[in-house]
Amino acid sequence: MTAVAETIAALRAQVQAWRSEGLRVALVPTMGALHDGHISLVRTALERADRCVVSIFVNPRQFAPTEDLDKYPRQLVQDLTRLAEAGAHLAFTPDVGEVYPEGFATSISVGGPSAGLETAFRPAFFDGVATVVGKLFIQVTPDVAVFGEKDYQQLCVVRKLCLDLNLPVEIIGAPTIRDAEGLAMSSRNAYLGADELKIAQKLNKVLRKAAAALEAGSDEQATMAAARQEILDAGFDELDYVEARASLTLAPWQRDREGRVLVAARLGKTRLIDNVEIAAS
Ligand code: PAJ
Repeated sequence: MTAVAETIAALRAQVQAWRSEGLRVALVPTMGALHDGHISLVRTALERADRCVVSIFVNPRQFAPTEDLDKYPRQLVQDLTRLAEAGAHLAFTPDVGEVYPEGFATSISVGGPSAGLETAFRPAFFDGVATVVGKLFIQVTPDVAVFGEKDYQQLCVVRKLCLDLNLPVEIIGAPTIRDAEGLAMSSRNAYLGADELKIAQKLNKVLRKAAAALEAGSDEQATMAAARQEILDAGFDELDYVEARASLTLAPWQRDREGRVLVAARLGKTRLIDNVEIAAS
């Protein structure tokens, strides 16, 4: 059984009890609608700590007014069953008023890796993420927190948040869990129709091909232009970006250095993101 805390006071009481026993605590922040990708983070957390807290909170501050906040899948009962199976110890499930009480007026804004990519299309997104993740770190005081490489820019922003604010939390990046065709698992995949799913499954293949070409010495501009065309030819309606960037800093990629090819593309009403590694040669 996974216990549930709906309030910050209940969460703190539980974490304090664990601390007094000398136990290490891990945090896995989520917005729920849990799939195998989230569960893999719980497994990683349990390898690194004695107790695992999973937060489930659909954070309104990271959704633009035009985005899918109301429609975002919510399935707490199934989520709690999955967490119990995975061995998570506590689900923290606050409501919006608990996290952002009337008159809430503080925001955390991280520079550096938040520049460009997602921010060019979702300007307030990382302020919303950094604010809620900062609050969760202060509420839970975890020894370690696990984030997915699936949201690679988010992972870099969270690392920078901890570095710049001296937050004593070890951040673990966990590999992306994919379906048999390579599509990165995402709560938003539930929006895809059967035909759209087939198109979505091509995205990762284009990224892998681009990363392999860069590793083999192909020209960056030509490789990215080819990837752009392949994504549109595959049937995506719009391509927000496909770019090669340096790992961690997300500065422009430099040949022979480790990097990442990152993409965001739209298929009907669904926006998909993904990224793959460019190995250093
Ligand atoms: P959410 O989209 O629910 O994702 C929660 C965590 O699961 C993130 O660290 C994300 O990178 C990871 N994740 C998602 N899909 C994955 C996959 N296929 N493989 C591995 N990990 C995966 O990301 C958020 O929520 C929010 O922005 C949050 C950090 C909770 C702040 O509100």
